[in-house]
Parts: sequence; structure tokens; C-alpha cells
Amino acid sequence: MDLIIKNGKIVTETEMFEADIAVKNGKIVAIGKNIDHQAETVIDAMGKLVLPGAIDVHTHLAMPFGGTVSADSYLSGTRAAACGGVTTVFDYPIQRKGNSILSLIDEKKAICETEACVDYAFHCCITDLNDGAILAEMEKAVEEGITSFKCFLVYKKEGMMVDDATFVKLLIRAKELGAMINVHAENPDIIDMNIETFLKEGKTSPWYHYLSRPEFVEAEADKRAVHWAKNFDAALYIVHMADKEGLEAAIDAKRNGNQIYIETCPQYLEFTSAVYQREDGRNFVCSPPMKGQESQDALWNAIRTGGIDTIATDHCPFQSYEKDWGKDDFTKIPNGCAGIENLYPYMLSAANEGKVSFNKVVECCCANPAKIFGCADKGSLTVGKDADIVIYDPDKKFTISVDNMHSDYDHTIWEGKELKGYPVMTISRGKLIFKDGEFLGKPGWGKFVKRVTNN
Ligand code: URP
Ligand code: ZN
Ligand code: ZN
Repeated sequence: MDLIIKNGKIVTETEMFEADIAVKNGKIVAIGKNIDHQAETVIDAMGKLVLPGAIDVHTHLAMPFGGTVSADSYLSGTRAAACGGVTTVFDYPIQRKGNSILSLIDEKKAICETEACVDYAFHCCITDLNDGAILAEMEKAVEEGITSFKCFLVYKKEGMMVDDATFVKLLIRAKELGAMINVHAENPDIIDMNIETFLKEGKTSPWYHYLSRPEFVEAEADKRAVHWAKNFDAALYIVHMADKEGLEAAIDAKRNGNQIYIETCPQYLEFTSAVYQREDGRNFVCSPPMKGQESQDALWNAIRTGGIDTIATDHCPFQSYEKDWGKDDFTKIPNGCAGIENLYPYMLSAANEGKVSFNKVVECCCANPAKIFGCADKGSLTVGKDADIVIYDPDKKFTISVDNMHSDYDHTIWEGKELKGYPVMTISRGKLIFKDGEFLGKPGWGKFVKRVTNN
């Protein structure tokens, strides 16, 4: 054996039990009591939890956006991922109008080959069908293992939005290919109308970022997206769900047998719109914005009751000086916040405090992402799967600070957040890449995850 992890408590999406795990050639080869094979490395996990590595299915690395580029490269973003127990990262390359998606994917793969510190996959954002050429390219993309595509129903002025007809064409095409459409749902016209009014009235603080896109503005688009998916009988994955009304409509559709999947993010579970009243409110500007307490309560409830399928970060940090562009005008703040290193520790701490179960965290951060997005070798501690493993010390106290993160950003919305318990080791395909606060991996270690459709 290459590695045996002994005496730990294994957590799956359904069980918790004491057992050892044996690893060979990057794969889990045995799970059982008192495995007594010889191994090159033996880790004693007495008193620790042994969990699958998390899959962050929503990140924006080195993404040109908001007049700049997001602060984490593929190297620093995946390094931070490793240090937060994330062993697979999904990025969202964005097609620029008129361009091919296949060449975009090739470009990103080439960067990741040398930079990625953990395994990686892509959902490809489509902004333009190029007279139908993209509908043809999608088939090749699926063959290459890119089995999900994203549409923005917002960001009209940024040239990223698709109209309803394009969205529906993509839903239909994805269905033919056994692929998935992911959607960012907010109503662009009402946002733009609100922004125009607020700016005319001199209402320029981050609070008006929230008021220009409040609960019902997101809810309309959530419901519209669900409506089209339902009526065209297509699968739909709603990213970064943040509002109660849209959430309930999507859960209703799911419970009525429609193939609707729902993601939320830790920032919506921790913060409310009150953050936009703070002095540093601009640092919290992301879209959709944090919502009120009622929405936050509904999100937690939906995690506990199975309405929400996945929890991912929407990691898209910007530097302080870039956030400062919007000091006197919220529309100039680049949208996005950090989270890749906080996702798993935050959710596991919530479990440790009794807010949800550890099994539920594994389900939403590991097992469901793998199942929904066709990562056959990932997402659970089972014989035959990749040995992507996190060892978690439930007694370790940790306070998040920009100084103990492993990203390239210079501030974090999570500053000062106290966590109960923390990952102490991350293992990627059998290799130790993080230990006791220190990154031990190397750029280029990460492999492309060729996904399969769920057909
Ligand atoms: O504010 C955000 N979420 N920035 C990243 C792009 C997106 O909408 O997901
Ligand atoms: Zn989005
Ligand atoms: Zn996003």
C-alpha cells in the first residue's frame, strides 16, 4: 500500500463509522477495521474525522470581469482550495461574443496543466450562439468531458446576458446531449431601471447595490428559468440561490418531478443584506447580493430538508483598491467575493456546532456535486474512487484572517470568523498536499476531470 489512514471516523453522506482506509496508486483500495498491510505512509487519525475532499463546483479564477481580472489565478485559487479541503475545482470560462467555446476550453486547460494544484473541471459559459455554431460545438465539448454550460440572465451591459430564446435553445440542446444548463437568475431590466433611478437620486452607497436587486428581482428570474426548464422538460441547475421566494418555487418544481438542482453559497448562509450598511460594505458586493434574514433562514432549512443540492463558493475575489473604485458609486464595484478556502471549514464548523449533520455537509459539498456533474471517480470515500481525502480535527479552533489564507487577495469578507474544528490534512489522489496550515502540493499536480453525462 502507498498510504493507510488508521483509527479515524469515516464520514459519508449517510454514515459515520470507525475504520481504516488503504490507498494505492491514487485510489481507495480498501476500507475496513484494522487494515494491517504494510504501507509506505501511515497516518494516525485517532480523534479525527476522515471525509471526502470537497468539490467546489462554482469558481471564477483569473476571470476578466468588472473592468479587471479576479484576484486568484488558477495557481493561487487551487492552492487555496487545497488548504481548505477542496480537492476538485470547477471553473467557469466565459465565451466572448463571436468566439468558439472549444478553443476557450483548450486555452484554459493549457493554463491548468501547469498551474492547477488540485483536480479541475469546467462549466463553459455561453454568451452567444454564433448563428448556431455553438450548438454544434457543444457536442464536441461534451465528448471532451465538459458536460455543463452556463447562461447568465443578467450582465446585459457587460455583454454576457442571453435572452430567453437563447436560454431555451440551450436547454433543448443540452437535453439532447445529456448535458446540464446552469443559470445565474436575476432580472436584468429591473436591475438597470433601479440603478438608473438610484444614481439620478444620488443614492450611490453599497446598500443600493442590494436595493437595485432585492429578493423579488432574483425570484422573478428563478421562476422564469424554472418555468422554461419545466415546460421544455430539461434539466436545470440554478447557481448561487439566495432568495426565499425563488428557492421555494424551485423546490416545488423539483418535488413535482422536474429535474431542477439548486446551489447556494456560504456567504448567503452567513451574511444578510445588513452588510451593505457597513463601512466596508463594498467588499461584500456580489451578485446576487446577500438577502434578508427570512431568505437566510429558508436556505438553511432547505439544506436540512434536501431542497438544496449543493453548496459552492462563487469564488471571485478582487483586491481592495478595485473594490474602492466603487466608494462613491456602487455600480463601479467589481462583483464578487472570496470563499474557496472557507467553504468546507465553514460548513463543517456548522455541523460541529449542530446546525446541520456532517453527513449533510458531505452530501452537499462532495457526493451531490459529483453525481450531478458526472465526476465518476470523485465525491465519496468508497473503494475504487480517487483517494481525495480530508482529515478534520473537530477540536481545532481557527479564526479566518487574510493572513492565514493561501490566496492572492488582500482582504476577505470572512475576516475574524471563528470556526469550531478545521481540516488538518488534505490528500489529493493519495498525495498529501496540505498539512497543519501549510500547503505541500505543487502547481501542475491537478488533473483535468473528464466528466460523463448522466444519460
Ligand atoms: O458577484 C459575482 N457573483 N461575481 C461572479 C460572477 C457571477 O455572477 O457568478
Ligand atoms: Zn453568477
Ligand atoms: Zn459565479
